[in-house]
Amino acid sequence: MTQTDYIVIQAKEDGVNVIGLTRGNDTKFHHSEKLDCGEVMIAQFTDHTSAMKIRGKADVHTAYGVVSSEGKD
Ligand code: TRP
Repeated sequence: MTQTDYIVIQAKEDGVNVIGLTRGNDTKFHHSEKLDCGEVMIAQFTDHTSAMKIRGKADVHTAYGVVSSEGKD
């Protein structure tokens, strides 16, 4: 079982997408979660999730620090 730190994503605009990508030979989207401005998602990397893609403006808090994804404007 893969045990990892949680990451915290806080949306800075409406319609931010948090997309989970599968672990293993195939790398595919398996889940997409939509956050509106101010909403927070707390997530882990798991046996099923090896990567996450964040679309839209958001702050991502990780063990490595805080990174901000930019919106399109
Ligand atoms: N069922 C997914 C899993 O266990 C749930 C999940 C965990 C997830 N972390 C995620 C979905 C990050 C999207 C993004 O892997």
